[in-house]
Amino acid sequence: MTLTHEKIEKIIAAVYEAGHFIAGADRGALGVKSKTGVDNFVTKYDVKTQEMLVSSLGKIIPEAGFLAEENGVDTASSHKLTFIIDPIDATTNFIHDLHHSAVCVGVAEDGMPAAGFVYNPFFDEMFYAVRGGGAYLRHEGGERRLFVSDRALSDALVGFGTVPYDRKEADRTFRIAKEMFLHSREVRRFGSAALDIVYVAAGRFDAFFELCLSPWDFAASSVILTEAGGAITDISGGEISVFDKTSVLATNAASRDEALRVIKSAS
Ligand code: IPD
Ligand code: CA
Ligand code: CA
Repeated sequence: MTLTHEKIEKIIAAVYEAGHFIAGADRGALGVKSKTGVDNFVTKYDVKTQEMLVSSLGKIIPEAGFLAEENGVDTASSHKLTFIIDPIDATTNFIHDLHHSAVCVGVAEDGMPAAGFVYNPFFDEMFYAVRGGGAYLRHEGGERRLFVSDRALSDALVGFGTVPYDRKEADRTFRIAKEMFLHSREVRRFGSAALDIVYVAAGRFDAFFELCLSPWDFAASSVILTEAGGAITDISGGEISVFDKTSVLATNAASRDEALRVIKSAS
């Protein structure tokens, strides 16, 4: 991809800055407001963090477009390079002071995922990857390369999401979660799709599924996963686009076929 080393480091610096802003939030003045749908909230930190990122990233690559969650910022279609931004993935965790949320910045080039940056400021964990260059985790001044695990589904820890803003998916979600539980070591619901997917990249989780996600939930983490040797598709195994809503199945290689079989049997 066309990102230079210097630009990558500048993007990482912008994502760190956004993450530190969230971690230092004034907990008494989050400015929680209801968005559309059930239990779908936004805080003034979601909005402000997105503004910060659009401003700082726009200076690094002025010719890039944006697809961002809050206020429907979408200038993606007319650009070769697009930033896909989720300013806070896991706003519900953030509102509840549960330290498991992330700033997500994906970069698409000619419509294909090309780089991804996912930062959890509460653990100081910066997951990132550029297509063709491997996936990495920066933590407390050190850096290590990431690889998916080689666990089969029977030994797997499986993350999942509940599609919280569309509760008509609840029955199918929990049917699949039950079957996954019965066919794996255990299941987990941590509340951040982006962190769930990079946890598969890091070999912490072995598989993850959710029945509907938006581009900003998975664009950044999808590059990190594939660069770590994993695969991301819809829940039937079909290709996904970083510009469309879709179901997601993210796995290592060893658990994939069995995970697809379990989902099919429970759907
Ligand atoms: C949500 C989180 C959650 C997932 C939802 C997403 P948000 O993102 O990733 O884990 O279950 O589907 O919408 O709204 O906190 O940015
Ligand atoms: Ca999200
Ligand atoms: Ca969000």
